[in-house]
Amino acid sequence: MYQDDLLAGQTILITGGGTGLGRAMTERFASLGARVGVCGRRREPLEATVDAVRQAGGAAAWARADVRDADQVEAAVARLEDELGELTGLVNNAAGNFLAPSEDLSANAFDAVVRIVLYGTYHATMAVGRRWIGRGAPGHVLSIVTTYAWTGSAFVLPSACAKAGVLAMTRSLAVEWGAYGIRSNAIAPGPFPTEGAFSRLMPPGFLESAKKANPLGRFGEQPELADLAVYLFSPGAAYVNGECVVIDGGEWLKNGQEFGKFTDLPRETVKAQMAAMKPKK
Ligand code: COA
Repeated sequence: MYQDDLLAGQTILITGGGTGLGRAMTERFASLGARVGVCGRRREPLEATVDAVRQAGGAAAWARADVRDADQVEAAVARLEDELGELTGLVNNAAGNFLAPSEDLSANAFDAVVRIVLYGTYHATMAVGRRWIGRGAPGHVLSIVTTYAWTGSAFVLPSACAKAGVLAMTRSLAVEWGAYGIRSNAIAPGPFPTEGAFSRLMPPGFLESAKKANPLGRFGEQPELADLAVYLFSPGAAYVNGECVVIDGGEWLKNGQEFGKFTDLPRETVKAQMAAMKPKK
């Protein structure tokens, strides 16, 4: 779907790039010619991702950093720039989340998620953004949010609050940093099966009903999200700024719609019921 060298000349940092959707984006960017840096808390998945990229002929480096800590992020960015050259892009992908009744959350639990998602995004965005501004260089910040960033969601209160903040950051900086040639965009994924997300967010026995709740009747596939991210980094997206692109099969629209659930019933049943309600002439 894309030219092989579409991202040549770009150097992109993906936070949490060692696992899940972060790894999928990392490998896809590299396959299209970008140099990729990954950071995260655990050495093994970072190393494995970098090895996979290098084996496929790409350029990659990793650095350990807990995105909650501004100093660690700053050090990781400096190290990755030493190894790969100046960054031109950032994906704020690192996240933390789990299902829990809000009244049972400890302050520390709320803090853990908000610090990873909102503060982590802030720290990484500032570390690269300040460099770009200092150099007079353009850049692109892509943040992975979620469809409940604007609807809110039961049972994931810290994540909902933090992702709403990330979306506000995206739109704020799109305007403020647009003047420096720095674009800010977001992707709002629906359900994409990854070990990290589904082990925390998909209770056993809910898989089939979750698929049913989606107009397309399935979950997303990692390459679909990675290719959307590629588009936003591509030269063709140079005028896209401050946008949040939803990739969820239409899930949030269906579940936010008064009569959307009717699509879960056999269509013939729905048609028959509606016909029966139609006034007779
Ligand atoms: N329900 C309620 N509270 C929970 C919880 C759960 N499922 N999981 C963790 N907590 C609480 C802990 O009890 C602790 O609070 P306490 O000190 O008052 O007991 C607090 O959250 C921090 O947990 P801890 O495990 O010490 O934090 P951590 O920094 O090691 O881990 C998390 C952070 C909790 C976000 C962890 O899930 C994580 O590392 N996630 C990263 C990957 C991820 O979430 N991916 C999915 C993205 S969609």
